[in-house]
Amino acid sequence: MLPVYGHLPFVPVRAAGCDIITDDGRRILDLYGGHAVAALGYGHPRLVEAIRRQSGNLLFQSNAVALDVRATAAEKLVAAAPEGLTRAFFVNSGAEANENALRMACVATGRRKVLAIAHGFHGRTAAAGAVTWNSDGWYGFPAKPFDVDFIPRDDVGQAIEMIQDDVAGVIVEPVQGVAGAYDLATGFLECLREQTRRHGALLIADEVQSGIGRSGQYFAVQTQGIVPDVLTSAKSLGGGIPAGAVLCGEPVAAHFGPGSLGTTFGGGPLAAAAIVAVLEAIESEALLGNVREREIQIREHCVTGPVRKIQGSGLLLGLVCDRPAREVRDALLEHDILTGTSADPNVVRILAPLVLASGHVEHLAQALESIPPADA
Ligand SMILES: Cc1ncc(COP(=O)(O)O)c(C=O)c1O
Repeated sequence: MLPVYGHLPFVPVRAAGCDIITDDGRRILDLYGGHAVAALGYGHPRLVEAIRRQSGNLLFQSNAVALDVRATAAEKLVAAAPEGLTRAFFVNSGAEANENALRMACVATGRRKVLAIAHGFHGRTAAAGAVTWNSDGWYGFPAKPFDVDFIPRDDVGQAIEMIQDDVAGVIVEPVQGVAGAYDLATGFLECLREQTRRHGALLIADEVQSGIGRSGQYFAVQTQGIVPDVLTSAKSLGGGIPAGAVLCGEPVAAHFGPGSLGTTFGGGPLAAAAIVAVLEAIESEALLGNVREREIQIREHCVTGPVRKIQGSGLLLGLVCDRPAREVRDALLEHDILTGTSADPNVVRILAPLVLASGHVEHLAQALESIPPADA
């Protein structure tokens, strides 16, 4: 393997519920969910059975044929999405979803400039990387596929000034995940919506990390009452099976016909069965309500020890700490709790499974409380 990743100091061999079991027998509470992927935790019977059944019946067929399971996944996904987003295009990952969303904005408007938000992360492919903040250190391509500029976070004045008639689209994570679960102000998002509409640009909501129930609604834009023109999803969408999607409304969809977009694996039967199982589990187990309850509990009990305040939404939370997040992440791991860091050096990130239980939050609060003060 290319040495492009650092590894955490444990080796998982099994997982169940919210727990990872390691090769040396440790049981670690996973509040990071494999980068926000394990929406239903591990070994969820509905998801496991759906994958088992689908792989036995029909493991793969491409988009050259219609599939009932793909149609069901699309119906359930658009039913969960903000009203007006009636069309789905399935892909395999978050970067691929954004790559296609950005292409759609350029095609639908005939323009060549895209605005993104400072500190946003959208993936590592050519277009997604071009709109990712600070990607110059790893971007690597000799040129970007369109002109790019970044609007400062929550700066309504700059948004009004920068969104003009030459802009194809504005891409925004309603809650900036990699940036440390930074929840953008609703007024700023409303301004992006209003200005893009006024100037004929598309508003693209990147809900790769914030979507599929993580905010306490299916999509974070629904907590803010915003309807984007295009919405991208991945990570939790397949609950662990790679899956991504681009959703849009009819005005955008009208620009795309046979051959204008494509993928081999996107919308394959196994991914589609996983998407159906994830969405059905969220509905039947009232997981949106659970996410909201766990968020309240975390906000009430976890501003303790090194944590000074909490930002974010639902179970996409940033614990703003009084010391480097790495130190807190490592201390929590000693208590058998896995959390993540973020691009903000002082923010520990929580991307827990949506099935998180009250006892798990108590465990986290106790562990945080037992971390000695920074100057001890
Ligand atoms: C908001 C957001 N968009 C896009 C991506 C890229 O997704 P993927 O790694 O599946 O390509 C990520 C990954 O962290 C993300 O957080």
